[in-house]
Amino acid sequence: MLRPWLACGVVVPGVLLLAGACGGSSSGGPSASGPLDEDAGGGVQAGPAGLPCDVAGVLAEHCQSCHASTPQFGAPMPLVTWDDLNAPSRADPMKKVYELAIERVADERRRMPPSPNAPLSDAEQKTVADWTAAGAPRSTDQCGDPTDKPPPEGLSCTPDLSLAPESAWEMPEAAGDEYVCWGVDLSKEQATHVTAFAPVIDNTEITHHIVLYEAPSAYSRVPTRCSAGSAIAWRMVLGWAPGVGPLELPPEAGFPISTDPARPTHYVAQMHYSNPTGKKGAKDKSRIDLCTSAPRQHEADVMAFGSQSFEIPAAPPAGGRYTIDCALTVPAAFAGLHFFAAMPHMHQIGVAMSTKLTPAAGGPDVDLGTMPSFSFDSQAWLPVSATTKTGDVIRTSCSWTNNTGAPVRFGEKTGDEMCYSFSMYYPRIKSSLWSWAAPASGPPVGATCN
Ligand code: HEC
Repeated sequence: MLRPWLACGVVVPGVLLLAGACGGSSSGGPSASGPLDEDAGGGVQAGPAGLPCDVAGVLAEHCQSCHASTPQFGAPMPLVTWDDLNAPSRADPMKKVYELAIERVADERRRMPPSPNAPLSDAEQKTVADWTAAGAPRSTDQCGDPTDKPPPEGLSCTPDLSLAPESAWEMPEAAGDEYVCWGVDLSKEQATHVTAFAPVIDNTEITHHIVLYEAPSAYSRVPTRCSAGSAIAWRMVLGWAPGVGPLELPPEAGFPISTDPARPTHYVAQMHYSNPTGKKGAKDKSRIDLCTSAPRQHEADVMAFGSQSFEIPAAPPAGGRYTIDCALTVPAAFAGLHFFAAMPHMHQIGVAMSTKLTPAAGGPDVDLGTMPSFSFDSQAWLPVSATTKTGDVIRTSCSWTNNTGAPVRFGEKTGDEMCYSFSMYYPRIKSSLWSWAAPASGPPVGATCN
């Protein structure tokens, strides 16, 4: 029974874009200001605050989620300014904070930042150690640090973890489209669910889309060029595209984090950069902040409806629009899935998109995400609510106005097109043969389109 929905073990083209804001209620965290709110912005004042930019950058990224100007999560002191680092330590007043800091980042038993946060890399430790060894001199550096950006408005929980690359990506001047991946491993002692995602975009000029995956193995934290596609074993978790904000899951669902430090959850962020104007030295260090909580009732997941195989003719039909309609009949194995958020996704010439569920038992269609006038520049996760039953039909319709003068096909590049309705649901399908793209992969495994 699983068959019709299973992918065939090929590499599925990656998704370019996605993610955004949706309805759904909060994870119940405290509201308003949190460690990543304005206080954490301390890193930005690195110059005036008297710290060298490289040291300030390490503190901003690895320490200030807790050691903010107003310390959070039980941290005893801020680590934002030169004065903060030169104050006497609370635990050991004979030492200055910066002396204790370099001990604690290398202390296996009482490491800072504490697990599950990643330890400092060797390079980062050296940055701090060199400065410490030089007697922690005051600096007049003027530096802006992207990592201090607060998460977007609209979150009702307080982010307590962050997925961030080890270093900024520097965009080559001559590159048009560039795909870059980095990974972060997470594990928690207690069973934990991710309940909200808040992408924090550093450089909006070159960052076009982000797709967050969960992978079966670790991926380097250093941003490196990667393919536009994704391995079949990568599960999609989230996406960001222009216009979208944070995404909070409903109170009964979350994305689980491993409790086994030997087998952490491997997140991989696939960044799509574009530098059409050939800017010199453009850098990006976007990150994704996460809210977590105790495990919720259901494990969430993402799949995509739509199609991966279509060609939009150069000459538009009468009326100017070319539309495909795809239909998928829900097999018994996938009855009982509850969909709660959807992100209709196309590229530049997309003009309208909708996904609907027609119940086998009769009755009105249920909306699974409709954008009557689609715009590439303002995408979003839409709140939806539908539960599948055997024999229900899920229909996705994508419309384009092809003004390019040439046929346009499905593909990953900005000039190609897509017809994916990313759909968040629970409970998660656990089969290792399952792919998020299976419902859009065409017959015999996915929808039939015409
Ligand atoms: C997730 C929150 C968190 C992060 C991130 C974090 N810390 Fe801490 N830190 C704490 C807490 C809680 C304490 C107090 C308990 C303890 O000493 O272990 C602490 C204590 C310390 C102390 C001891 C202070 C004293 O005077 O006794 C130092 C030094 C320190 N942290 C440095 C760092 C540095 C440097 C980083 C970044 C590389 C960092 N911490 C990141 C939570 C955090």
